[in-house]
Amino acid sequence: AGLNAVGKAAGKLYFGTATNANEFQDDAVYGAIINNTRQFGQITPANAMKWEYTEPNPGNFTFEDGDVIRDLARNNGQLLRGHNCVWYQQLPDWITNGTFTYHEMIDIVENHCGTLVGHYKGEVYAWDVINESLNDDGTFRENVFYNATGSDYIPAALRAARAADPHAKLYINDYGIEGTGNKSTALQNLVRELKSEGVPIDGVGIQCHLTVGQLPTGLLENFHDFGQLGVEFAVTELDMAIQGNVTADALEQQKQDYATVVSACLSVPACVGVTVWDFTDKYGWITNGHADIWDDNLQKKPAFDGVVLGF
Ligand code: XIL
Repeated sequence: AGLNAVGKAAGKLYFGTATNANEFQDDAVYGAIINNTRQFGQITPANAMKWEYTEPNPGNFTFEDGDVIRDLARNNGQLLRGHNCVWYQQLPDWITNGTFTYHEMIDIVENHCGTLVGHYKGEVYAWDVINESLNDDGTFRENVFYNATGSDYIPAALRAARAADPHAKLYINDYGIEGTGNKSTALQNLVRELKSEGVPIDGVGIQCHLTVGQLPTGLLENFHDFGQLGVEFAVTELDMAIQGNVTADALEQQKQDYATVVSACLSVPACVGVTVWDFTDKYGWITNGHADIWDDNLQKKPAFDGVVLGF
């Protein structure tokens, strides 16, 4: 079975994965899997489009690394997810160590988002314009952007992205919004507020970096709540870390938990697709968690069947 083929047959737009260029350039077995569009219909750069790489110095943009991921998706006819425009991590030093007035920071955000999104105009299905802007309690995260502008950097980024590529879907992406709770409610309120103010917002990314046997409470109910917002949403960074030994039971529970998340997306029409945050334990960013659906030797795990089961 192919995961993208099964997901599309079930009515979703895609099943996708995050990746880094060295993985498919240096590893032929990995490369054959990611180039198989029956498995993956969508690609997200795990790192290559982040601010530290795309604007390492003020106004000095470098897209070589991002273009490699774009070319993979383009050559295969896979949808491309832009990741990301504004995040408080993986920033260049000039942002992290700088002090900026309100207007300086708004200009910086608009220029970064506009230039980045503009470079990939017409080639990106959806952009994670805003990444991880909220604290766990639902208040705004006091990052370098917030400290200069309050939450005004959020509409500024979204408007700049819209102007740069009118056809890309503009998302706010976050973790800790998988189940019901304060953070989910806050993000839903933020989307409603942005919409009421005429700020362009098309979707919510629910990351889903989860732990086996510990799915958040109210996950299905919460997915339905996000489906009521009048924007689409997607599972954008799914993985499922095993705590402790990788036993047959743990692998079976991991399979069930992948199935639960995928079927929650399936059950809500507004959920357009599911992306795993890389597909193999060989390269997953969660070291030791064996969180992915292919193992260290690029063999399918029970979790692979869990995705199929979920669709
Ligand atoms: C991760 C990458 O996978 C790692 O290679 C990097 O060292 C740190 O960032 N949420 C996100 C992603 O939105 O950008 C992060 O990606 C994982 C958590």
